[in-house]
Amino acid sequence: MPYAPEHDEIPNPLRPGLRADSAPEPCAVVIFGASGDLAHRKLVPALYNLAVGAHLPAAFGIVGVSKSAYSHDEFAQDMREAVGRFSRTRPIDPEIWQDFAAGIRYVAGSFDDPDTFARLRAQLEELDRTRSTRSNRLYYFATPPSTFPTLLKQLKAAGMINSPFDTRFTRVVIEKPFGRDLPSARALNRLVLETCDERQVFRIDHYLGKETVQNLLVFRFANSIFEPIWNRRYVDQVQITAGEDLGIEGRGRYYEEAGILRDMIQNHVLQLVCLSALEPPVSFDADSVRDEKIKVLRAIETFDTPEQVARNVVLGQYAPGSVAGADVPGYQQEKEVAKGSRTPTFVAIRLNIRSWRWDGVPFYIRSGKRMPKRATEIAVHFRPVPHPLFGEGTTQPNVLIVRVQPEEGIALRFSAKVPGERFRPRTVSMDFRYGTTFAAASPEAYERLLLDAMRGDQTLFTRKDEVEAAWRIVGNILKVTESSEFPPPYPYPAGTWGPAAADELLAQDRRVWRRL
Ligand code: BG6
Repeated sequence: MPYAPEHDEIPNPLRPGLRADSAPEPCAVVIFGASGDLAHRKLVPALYNLAVGAHLPAAFGIVGVSKSAYSHDEFAQDMREAVGRFSRTRPIDPEIWQDFAAGIRYVAGSFDDPDTFARLRAQLEELDRTRSTRSNRLYYFATPPSTFPTLLKQLKAAGMINSPFDTRFTRVVIEKPFGRDLPSARALNRLVLETCDERQVFRIDHYLGKETVQNLLVFRFANSIFEPIWNRRYVDQVQITAGEDLGIEGRGRYYEEAGILRDMIQNHVLQLVCLSALEPPVSFDADSVRDEKIKVLRAIETFDTPEQVARNVVLGQYAPGSVAGADVPGYQQEKEVAKGSRTPTFVAIRLNIRSWRWDGVPFYIRSGKRMPKRATEIAVHFRPVPHPLFGEGTTQPNVLIVRVQPEEGIALRFSAKVPGERFRPRTVSMDFRYGTTFAAASPEAYERLLLDAMRGDQTLFTRKDEVEAAWRIVGNILKVTESSEFPPPYPYPAGTWGPAAADELLAQDRRVWRRL
């Protein structure tokens, strides 16, 4: 019989002696960009919630680094306010906070200045002495990508990056966007790997930290009844939607550079495609799972000519409209957005995965800002019945819907007999909802990811080759759509599901988007 490890025996690929689900070793988390939005909204609230759940290591500290001038106490106070506003659990528990705050430090300085790193080093050594953080370091780059090279060089020059074989760990968490096309992602990977070993690099995609995204693996591989039908013989099409009612939320400068393809598709949405389409990994360790994701990315047909892009990709940009009853401006009226901007805020793409399992099953993906509501889901549409026994057009094909957010859960749509004398079918739903089934509230994505990074478990982080494979797909599209010959994005009124051309993309295949 094959050996199946018990849950608590899952080996940690980075540190063989450490179990993946064990408590992390004592460590200090250094947040570069500590005065920024991410630290306030996500990182420090996530760390605090790990403290609430007693998941932090016994000895723990945080060092914030940025240009703003704070004292340790001012920074801790600022973080307390952020946790008060953005934490999943509220109000703040004063006892837990007191203990948590006792390990908060701050270093002000420019990333260009070696002295900043000398002071950071001294601060970390102080934490090692007073909080027993044992020289283990998790560096979190919550900064714009242009700073990554400087941070890596300075850390290296200050002797603050240990070898991956050192008993004291050094790990680097890198936020997206990881490059802006394939050449820049490759260059960044080269630079990162000149300084660190791949086993020390944690490229974050917060969608992988979402419970429902992880549940895709459990749903597919801990149940025996779905896998036999999860292929081209039974599946007609897959629709993946990642829609947001929000606009660009004051991030005009960033968004003008990014657009929806870099902001959502290259990372989050392609990850959803990978987890929906991958083959069963040989085991649940980081590399086995990531090896299977890579195969999906490599099998996705790329669009190499403008004609292929025009046939399979629809871009949109929101115009003024109304969302949830409130009037909202169009993208071009947003702050720091150029008049006449050609940046897409919506995209719909028809993908084909050239593999034995999927070839010929279209994966329609769409993502957009200022949609009518926030809704992210994966809908697997099965083939219709071969013969309409109860009359032409009386039954709808089965659809399995994984709701990533909100109302996290899974629903199966199937036909049932309407009570009465006749055989009249109607589509009904079997619905599993996280909220009602599990009493415990789900942790935030960043909680899970920070904890895994502290434990050294890379399963939910993207590997070098994975990032590059995703850029190969998106980069080819960008090359065409960013040329001046490609038509500008279609405008769509804010509060709608994108331009009519996105419906036409499916209509060509005699299909329609699922109504959300
Ligand atoms: C971020 C994007 O990565 O993901 C944002 O930069 C987007 O533009 C966000 O709004 C969506 O994340 P979530 O968790 O709210 O679906």
